[in-house]
Amino acid sequence: MSSEPIVDSRSMDVEVAIRTRRSVRGFTSRTVTPEAMQHVFGLAQLSPSNCNIQPWRIFVASGAARDRLRQAMIAQVERGTPPNPDFEYPDRFEEPFRKHQIACAVTLFNEMGIGRDDKPGRNRALLRNFELFDAPHVAFLGMNKQFKEPVSLDLGIYLQTLMLAMTARGIACCPQGSMRSYPDIVRHEFGISQEIGILVGLSFGYEDSSVAANRTRIDRSPLAENVVFKND
Ligand SMILES: Cc1cc2nc3c(=O)[nH]c(=O)nc-3n(C[C@H](O)[C@H](O)[C@H](O)COP(=O)(O)O)c2cc1C
Repeated sequence: MSSEPIVDSRSMDVEVAIRTRRSVRGFTSRTVTPEAMQHVFGLAQLSPSNCNIQPWRIFVASGAARDRLRQAMIAQVERGTPPNPDFEYPDRFEEPFRKHQIACAVTLFNEMGIGRDDKPGRNRALLRNFELFDAPHVAFLGMNKQFKEPVSLDLGIYLQTLMLAMTARGIACCPQGSMRSYPDIVRHEFGISQEIGILVGLSFGYEDSSVAANRTRIDRSPLAENVVFKND
C-alpha cells in the first residue's frame, strides 16, 4: 500500500480550500488530466478510517463510461423508475432540519429561475443531477452493504478530503446523494459485486461560471446552534 503525499507548489492553504469549496452544478467539457486525478484521489487515499480499514471503494467514470452511465440514469428517471438505493435515508426531515432543507432548495431554485409552483422546472432541476450537471467525470463512493452508520463516517471523511483536494487544484465538484438512486447501473458498468453498496456520487470537472445555478451560495447556522463548548 502506498499513497505518498505529493508536495505541490500549487497547494492551497487548507482554510482557503474549506472556505472556497462549494457545490458546483454546471461544468465545461474540459477534462481533468490523469495526473491531476492521481493527485487528488491520492490525497483522499490518506483519509483516516477506524482501524485503518479504508472501507471506501471508489469508481470513477470518464469518457464513454461516463456517457453510458449518464444515459442509463436519465432513461430511468424519464421512465419514472422508482429509486432503489442500497442504504436507507430519512423520507422526511422535521424541524429544525427541514427549514435548512427548504432554504437550500429555495436558494438554488431562485438562482435557476424556478418558481415555487413550477413543477416542470423542479423536475428539470432534478434531472440535472442525472445529467451529472454536464460534468465530464463522476466518482461513485461505495462500501460493503453490511457496514452501517459508524463505517459510513469513514466515507464522509473521504468525501470531504477528496472535495478539498479538488478545490485546491481548481477542480469543481458536486456531492450527490441522488447518485444513490440506481446502484445496479453503476455495479453493471464497473462489474462490481452485489456486496458493494453505493453511498454517494461526486460529479467533477471545471466550473462553467455562466450557469445560473453556480451563483448559488448556501450559508450556515451560527456556531452556537451546532456546537456546545463546556468548561466548568
Ligand atoms: C452527502 C451529500 C449529498 C448531496 N446530494 C446532493 C444532490 O444529490 N444534488 C445536489 O444538487 N446537491 C447535493 N448536495 C449538495 C448540498 O446541497 C450542499 O452541500 C449544501 O447545500 C451546502 O452547499 P455547498 O456545498 O455549496 O456549501 C449533497 C451534499 C452532500 C454532502
